Amino acid sequence: MARHFLRDDDLDPREQHEVLELGLAFRDDRFFRTPLTGPRAVALLFDKPSTRTRVSFAVGVAELGGYPMLIDGASSQLGRGERVEDTARVLDRQCAAIVWRTFAQERLEQMASASAVPVVNALTDEFHPCQVLADLTTVAQLRGGVDALPGMTLAYLGDGANNMANSYLLGGVTAGLHVRIGTPAGYQPDPAVLAKAREIGEATGGSALVTADRDEAVAQADVLATDTWVSMGHEASAEARSEPFAPFQVNTDALALAAPDALVLHCLPAYRGKEITAEVIDGPQSAVWDEAENRLHAQKALLTWLLERS
Ligand code: CP
Ligand code: NVA
Repeated sequence: MARHFLRDDDLDPREQHEVLELGLAFRDDRFFRTPLTGPRAVALLFDKPSTRTRVSFAVGVAELGGYPMLIDGASSQLGRGERVEDTARVLDRQCAAIVWRTFAQERLEQMASASAVPVVNALTDEFHPCQVLADLTTVAQLRGGVDALPGMTLAYLGDGANNMANSYLLGGVTAGLHVRIGTPAGYQPDPAVLAKAREIGEATGGSALVTADRDEAVAQADVLATDTWVSMGHEASAEARSEPFAPFQVNTDALALAAPDALVLHCLPAYRGKEITAEVIDGPQSAVWDEAENRLHAQKALLTWLLERS
C-alpha cells in the first residue's frame, strides 16, 4: 500500500516531525539523498496555475535524481473527461509518484484510491498541505528547530474558509502550534476541519481558535500569516470580499500586536495593498523568501519519506 499525502493530517505528529527534520537536512545539503536516481519519473499534474509549486517540485524531483514530468491537466485526457481512476492506473505503471494540483479534494482521493504509488496534494480547493510543511520548516529554521515548534502561536488573518486556513489548522496543530484564524463572519473554516484540528490538539498540546476579532487573533503571536483574499476559482467574488476582509489586512498596525520578533509568512502570490502591505511583506520581519525556498526542501523530504514507505 502506498502512502499518500492528501491533507495535512495524513502525517501524524511523529511522522510530520520526521519529514520536517528531513527537510532541514535537505536545506543543509541539497544532494545528501537521491532516492529517485535512475532516473525514476514523477508525474506533476496541474489543473490550476502555479509558479512556486511547479518549480519546486520539478527542481526537487531532479535534485532527488529523478525525472520531473510536467503535465498540464487541460491538455491531458483528464481535461476531456477521462476517469481519474483510469489516469491513476496509467500513471502508476510508469511513475514513482503522482503530484496533483486540482480543484475538489474528492478528485485527489479518487486518484489515491486507484494509485499504487504515492499521490501528493499540490493544492486543492480544500487544502494546501505542502505549503504548510514549508511554513513549519521556515519557522523551525529561523526559530530554534523542529522541537521549538510546540507551544508557538500562529495567527492567520484573511479568508478562513480557504485551503491555507484549513491546512494551517490541521498541519499547525499537528506540530503542536496554537493556531488562531482571524476572519470575518461568513468565512469561517469547515467545522469538520476545525473539530479535527481540536482532536489532534488533545494529543499535541496545540489548539485552534476562530475569531472575528483581529486583535484577539494576533495578540502576541509568534507567527503572523496571510494569503490572498481571492483564491483561484473565486475570482467572481473578489469585489464582495474587499470590504469584509479589509480589517484583516496584515499591516504595521496588526504586526505591532504580535510578539516583537514575530515572523511574517505568506504563501504567495501576494497582492500588496490588499491582504498585506508592502511595508510588511518587504520589511525586516518578513520570512516569505525563505518560505518560498523551503517548498523545495520540504517537498524533497516528503517525497523521500513517502517513497521509503510505499
Ligand atoms: N504558494 C504557492 O503554492 O504558489 P504557486 O501557486 O505559485 O504554486
Ligand atoms: N489560497 C490560494 C493559495 C495560492 C497558493 C489559492 O488557492 O489560490
